[in-house]
Amino acid sequence: MQIEPFKLERYFAKYEFSSRYLLSSSDCESISLSDLLAMADAEMADLWHELKLGYTESWGHPLLREEIANMYQGVAREDVLTLVPEEGIFLIMHALLAPGDQVVSTFPGYQSLYEVARAIGCEVTTWEPNEDRGWQFAISDLEELVTANTKLVVVNFPHNPTGYLPSQEEFHSLMELVSSRGAYLLSDEMYRFLEIDAGNRLTAACELYERAFSLSGLSKLFGLPGLRIGWLASQDHQILQAVSRLKDYTTICSSAPSEILAIIALRNKSKITNQQIERVRKNVAVLDKFFSKFGEHFTWNRPMGGSICFPRMLQVENTHKFSQQLVADTGIMLAPSSVFQYGDHHVRIGFGREDMPQVIDLLGKYLVQRFN
Ligand SMILES: Cc1ncc(COP(=O)(O)O)c(C=O)c1O
Repeated sequence: MQIEPFKLERYFAKYEFSSRYLLSSSDCESISLSDLLAMADAEMADLWHELKLGYTESWGHPLLREEIANMYQGVAREDVLTLVPEEGIFLIMHALLAPGDQVVSTFPGYQSLYEVARAIGCEVTTWEPNEDRGWQFAISDLEELVTANTKLVVVNFPHNPTGYLPSQEEFHSLMELVSSRGAYLLSDEMYRFLEIDAGNRLTAACELYERAFSLSGLSKLFGLPGLRIGWLASQDHQILQAVSRLKDYTTICSSAPSEILAIIALRNKSKITNQQIERVRKNVAVLDKFFSKFGEHFTWNRPMGGSICFPRMLQVENTHKFSQQLVADTGIMLAPSSVFQYGDHHVRIGFGREDMPQVIDLLGKYLVQRFN
């Protein structure tokens, strides 16, 4: 298999652990091991202390699958396969797709959501948003792209990197469209529950359509990317079985400590996620002020969900060069739109971290110093 380098991940590999200030991360503030363990109930405290570091069940710890299923309506433990989120994308595409298959994917986006299909030899067409309409992905555009030959439609809402979220009605229309063409749907829901207005939360695709696969995990909302725990939820057990057979060639099973820690996190979902959502909303209010103050430098569409947004820079010719200069001068890491293969005019800003207000303030000072 010939696959293009993952531009965003390569960029992060270069700067994430050497930059002083991270202003582009998509994960929310991380939780420490001791804080997480302090939330364990008696059952989980016992499981943690007595844990043997052997292999684990390939589909995931039964208690973990149970807790994951509880996040959905009408989803049972049997509908859940645990894996690393990124692995889920890789494996579901290998389970579903063959060379020549037609795939439609939201773009720009997390590169594997279209690149893996391309590397398999599929014909990938992109469903692109309109920046002037708040980064709207128009269903009318998707209608033109999805045909009776489409095998798989890939969407990601709340969307990385724009923060766009369709309405519930639009999401239902999308699902009807995909089902009317008999296609599968991969719905990347990594940023679900991080809606700025909770009323805009979409129903999970796996609850609505029997050929849909909802991908999620603990990396973003829970601030636990180091656990490397995610899952695919679906009513289509045949395809989940096929994914699990492929998993024998990647990770086989999850890490034993990660599973127990994940169960603890899920049993404390409201406690953990309320804090994260509160922080995200507070930080969006900080961004409101920042972008109104720096209106001559940016246009932005206020994100509707997730922990990232994708403003356009107005006084910078090339955001890749700007980002490199910025990190060299100040230690502030931004992700330029080139790593999303989306030109040189935008940057991704992450607002899930506690220090975001201080770091965006430093960015503002830098802009004043450099351009005024
Ligand atoms: C939209 C989307 N899907 C999947 C992933 C992969 O998640 P993980 O890094 O936890 O494997 C990411 C991570 O940034 C993402 O943004």
